[in-house]
Amino acid sequence: MQENNTPKFFGRRKGRIIRKAKSTLLEKFLPKIKIGSDTVFDKNTMFGKPVKEVYLEIGFGDGAHLAGQAFKNPDKGFIGVEVFQNGVANLLTLITGIKEGKDMPQDISILPDRADNVRVFDDDVRILFKQIPDGFVDKVFLLFPDPWPKKRHASRRFINPDNLKELARIIRHGGILRVATDHKVYKAWTLRIMHDCPDFEWTAKCSNDWRNPPSDWVETKYQQKAIREGRKPVFFDYRRL
Ligand SMILES: C[S@@+](CC[C@H](N)C(=O)[O-])C[C@H]1O[C@@H](n2cnc3c(N)ncnc32)[C@H](O)[C@@H]1O
Repeated sequence: MQENNTPKFFGRRKGRIIRKAKSTLLEKFLPKIKIGSDTVFDKNTMFGKPVKEVYLEIGFGDGAHLAGQAFKNPDKGFIGVEVFQNGVANLLTLITGIKEGKDMPQDISILPDRADNVRVFDDDVRILFKQIPDGFVDKVFLLFPDPWPKKRHASRRFINPDNLKELARIIRHGGILRVATDHKVYKAWTLRIMHDCPDFEWTAKCSNDWRNPPSDWVETKYQQKAIREGRKPVFFDYRRL
């Protein structure tokens, strides 16, 4: 923790220059779907329509998985969290369908959401945790988290006892925490830390259950990169006890 109690974030917050259409979406459209400190976590009101189930994606990267899941599951509410501004901007193009300036309507406030079931927190999820009520979330996706492979950086890995305590609190009993990774250090680390955590059980019954993507999977950029570069991703589903 930093002195002001905000957790220290070690990844990138900004990358290449964000093009005009995406900057406009960040400036004008993001506020429509952004989670702020005054957002009330109510399944009847926080999304475009009432939902029964809420899925949370931590570190959604370019947003392909989050947008894909949101399109496939219009009856569920999705909370996407990403620190990297370029990734947030990309998600906005996916859920609005606006890629170029010429596609932008005059009045962006009337822009119809192609996925009105997505809400975004554009900062560190550890700041958001305290706003989320107990048992509010049905499924959490933590896909290809930064592996921080060096031993001296192990404390930066997202799977750690402090974060698991928060995840156990916000995931309902019987809900799922899905972790995918292609990094051998992170594979072993996840299995060990999760094994020692009394709040979750691994759902795998045989190796096919973690070697193959789950049936409700949507491809991600890091998954494609891993396969191109000859690494084998694994998919671990843990049930909240
Ligand atoms: C290696 S990328 C994977 C992106 C995406 N999940 C995918 O599979 O393509 C990890 C992402 O997690 C984000 N991230 C890491 N720690 C985070 C945190 N504490 N809160 C929110 N996002 C985080 C990073 O900004 C980065 O975009």
